[in-house]
Amino acid sequence: MRLFHKLAATQILSLLHSSAAVLLSQRDLTRVVNTNYDFVIVGGGTAGNVVANRLTENQNFNVLVLEAGPRQVKLHGEAWDIPLIIWHNCSDAGILALQVPFLTATTTTQTPWDWNYTSVPQPGLNGASVGLPRGYVLGGTSSTNGMIYTRGSKADFDRYANFTGDEGWSWDNMLPYFKKSEKFTPPSDRHNTTRQFDPSVHGFDGLNSVSLPGAPTVIDDRFEVAIDQLGGEFTYNLDVNSGSMLGFGWVQATIDGPSASRSSSSSGYLAREFLLRPNLHVLVNAQVSRVISEGNRDGVPEFKTVEFRLNGGDSLFNASASKEIILSAGTINTPQVLMNSGIGSPSHLHSHGIQSVVDLPDVGENLFDHPLITLSWRVNSSGTYDDYRRNSALQDEALQTWKTTRQGVYATGASQHIGFVRVPSNSSVFANAPDPASGPGSPHFEILVSVSTLIFVAVFCLIKTYAEFPYRTTPPEGNYLSILALLSSPGDNARGSVKLNSSDPFSIPLIDTGLLADNATDLALMREAVKSVLRFASAPAWEEYIISPQDSTQPGLNATDAELDAFIRANTRSGYHIVGTSSMTRKGAGAGVVDPDLKLKRAAGLRVVDASVLPFVPAGHTQAPTYALAERAADLIKATHSP
Ligand SMILES: Cc1cc2nc3c(=O)[nH]c(=O)nc-3n(C[C@H](O)[C@H](O)[C@H](O)COP(=O)(O)OP(=O)(O)OC[C@H]3O[C@@H](n4cnc5c(N)ncnc54)[C@H](O)[C@@H]3O)c2cc1C
Ligand SMILES: *[C@@H]1O[C@H](CO)[C@@H](O)[C@H](O)[C@H]1NC(C)=O
Ligand SMILES: *[C@@H]1O[C@H](CO)[C@@H](O)[C@H](O)[C@H]1NC(C)=O
Ligand SMILES: *[C@@H]1O[C@H](CO)[C@@H](O)[C@H](O)[C@H]1NC(C)=O
Ligand SMILES: *[C@@H]1O[C@H](CO)[C@@H](O)[C@H](O)[C@H]1NC(C)=O
Ligand SMILES: *[C@@H]1O[C@H](CO)[C@@H](O)[C@H](O)[C@H]1NC(C)=O
Ligand SMILES: *[C@@H]1O[C@H](CO)[C@@H](O)[C@H](O)[C@H]1NC(C)=O
Ligand SMILES: *[C@@H]1O[C@H](CO)[C@@H](O)[C@H](O)[C@H]1NC(C)=O
Ligand SMILES: *[C@@H]1O[C@H](CO)[C@@H](O)[C@H](O)[C@H]1NC(C)=O
Ligand SMILES: *[C@@H]1O[C@H](CO)[C@@H](O)[C@H](O)[C@H]1NC(C)=O
Ligand SMILES: *[C@@H]1O[C@H](CO)[C@@H](O)[C@H](O)[C@H]1NC(C)=O
Repeated sequence: MRLFHKLAATQILSLLHSSAAVLLSQRDLTRVVNTNYDFVIVGGGTAGNVVANRLTENQNFNVLVLEAGPRQVKLHGEAWDIPLIIWHNCSDAGILALQVPFLTATTTTQTPWDWNYTSVPQPGLNGASVGLPRGYVLGGTSSTNGMIYTRGSKADFDRYANFTGDEGWSWDNMLPYFKKSEKFTPPSDRHNTTRQFDPSVHGFDGLNSVSLPGAPTVIDDRFEVAIDQLGGEFTYNLDVNSGSMLGFGWVQATIDGPSASRSSSSSGYLAREFLLRPNLHVLVNAQVSRVISEGNRDGVPEFKTVEFRLNGGDSLFNASASKEIILSAGTINTPQVLMNSGIGSPSHLHSHGIQSVVDLPDVGENLFDHPLITLSWRVNSSGTYDDYRRNSALQDEALQTWKTTRQGVYATGASQHIGFVRVPSNSSVFANAPDPASGPGSPHFEILVSVSTLIFVAVFCLIKTYAEFPYRTTPPEGNYLSILALLSSPGDNARGSVKLNSSDPFSIPLIDTGLLADNATDLALMREAVKSVLRFASAPAWEEYIISPQDSTQPGLNATDAELDAFIRANTRSGYHIVGTSSMTRKGAGAGVVDPDLKLKRAAGLRVVDASVLPFVPAGHTQAPTYALAERAADLIKATHSP
């Protein structure tokens, strides 16, 4: 027992139950290196943990997850009593930020759980560089994101099916996977949710908890009245997750209602009972540099070795996978690992002295994102969330309430009201340009309402240092309403990329978001989105509530197109919904990176399972599609390897 002297009693218990899953010393690292795993998963993020969970349902599969970030630590400073390989003493400082829904704006950037990426200067945004947070923790971006749960439209998935020639990606075939991953739970405040969602389109037995808002806000009634007053584009939609997204309704979020806690892929798919599986090893602080091919199978390079470093050290180690290596490192890091491995555009790789192994020029290309802009107003109410972002006594009180009752403001997320709008097909926007939406039922833009200054997203993009952390950027006084607009359907030319900047596999890549890069429709549709936000804010329901714009330069309904354009170019930032850098295309297609079964083209032994495989950005936020595609991927992998 000498090895385990540092462990608490609970950890020793789990050790005795399943010593195979516990590795805590140099000797155990040696074991990781010497085990021939069936599958090695690169990245314990949103998608990676889904695959790890589902594959280890089969006791004959030995699975290793390599995650670059630290593990998430449990609440109140207790360490998780689970056997995470290589014990990491994470400070508990700020961990509440990952668990308490209200604290979502404090998870990024320049925190221990973020990759701290910034884009290259964006021509569409007057040359600005934008912040691009990504989760760096077991759970990946699902542990740090805004928790909004939207699936996209039926047409988004039918377009994936059509584009890839695989009916499996159609809405009708993916809806069972959305349901499989989902555990719809009652909201924290147990309010009556009748007529707030459609139970028939949800799953109740999955591993990712979803719920409606857990605490009422001061604008709930006004929101509903505004919708009634305005009509037209502002119709009520019982459930924007039914495949028919158009209209306005309640936000569903990846919050477990009863515990009032963030649901992430690590809290759900790597819950204690799954981590105790003896055929699952999870190694944190393990950053993968590349995958290595030592020979060919069926005339193409075969990959069985994953190279990684531990705790940022200089030594490199190998892990081996006899069946498959699954890349789940996300839209930025998956293409980076591929390129580090000699998989990509040969000329780009040669320019960094990397030998080409698989010629796949689309690796890192086709990056799509959602442009996002925030408008805000000063309001006549003391009941907004602003005080909770600047008054530490109120914060202490809210935290105490949350800890003792799992109720109150801290039980709820950043936004409670959401809507999706379509510009009419006869709009002049489409007079000389194709409609970029995936279909006639898909929105062009999204509107998201928040009962405070929207530091969430808006500020992430602007802050440069930890000292400018969101809670310190709420104005010292005043109460606010923020309304965000996201361009759900960027034009086909609004594509960015991820490229290597160096031959050092651990260096930061060059990231181009392609935001507002398609001049045919991006700006015109953003203009429509801003006008729609302004129309919404002009509903009689907001009289005596909205006082004035927070910033006097914010355009009003009388603004000219030129004024709107200037405002949009100056203030648009990333919606953080990047996809497409390992795009799937038809089997046998020259373009693209993976086949519809997510196997890397022109190679053997490699699959990509994360948001990077989506060839177009869906009209909704990207985590729900990522969970669902990972569920389907796990079935595809099992089908390949089951006798
Ligand atoms: C701030 C923010 C807010 C967001 N809000 C929402 C929202 O409200 N709703 C929504 O639906 N979507 C939201 N998103 C987007 C959504 O969370 C992501 O699209 C989704 O989680 C991506 O999942 P993934 O599996 O592709 O990648 P990730 O979840 O990022 O997983 C990748 C994992 O791989 C690890 N990794 C990377 N490189 C390596 C390496 N070399 N070796 C080992 N491990 C590695 C990472 O640390 C990470 O754990 C948000 C994103 C951000 C950044
Ligand atoms: C973790 O580190 C902190 C200091 O960073 C130390 O006080 C604490 O004792 C450590 N805990 C364990 C379990 O090693
Ligand atoms: C991001 O920045 C924070 C704070 O500076 C740091 O703790 C963290 O390790 C950084 N992330 C990475 C991947 O380096
Ligand atoms: C399917 O894709 C083809 C091209 O690949 C396109 O011509 C056709 O319009 C698409 N159909 C639908 C319903 O999207
Ligand atoms: C919830 O509200 C609906 C009507 O909106 C009502 O029919 C139902 O009885 C209520 N449920 C509970 C448990 O109160
Ligand atoms: C990893 O595997 C490659 C290919 O077999 C080999 O060249 C390299 O030396 C190995 N590295 C270690 C640390 O074993
Ligand atoms: C678009 O069509 C609607 C009716 O479907 C009509 O009321 C409107 O005037 C038309 N707009 C334009 C710009 O033609
Ligand atoms: C890319 O590399 C150059 C040269 O080493 C360096 O100056 C620059 O800061 C790097 N860019 C990023 C985004 O790291
Ligand atoms: C798109 O518009 C921007 C801003 O006006 C301009 O700088 C850019 O050159 C245009 N791009 C193309 C392809 O025309
Ligand atoms: C603020 O609201 C109160 C009612 O709650 C109203 O009497 C007052 O006129 C409002 N002030 C403004 C500036 O609208
Ligand atoms: C728009 O209206 C506001 C007041 O509602 C006014 O201050 C502003 O000058 C107007 N702008 C234009 C371009 O007419």
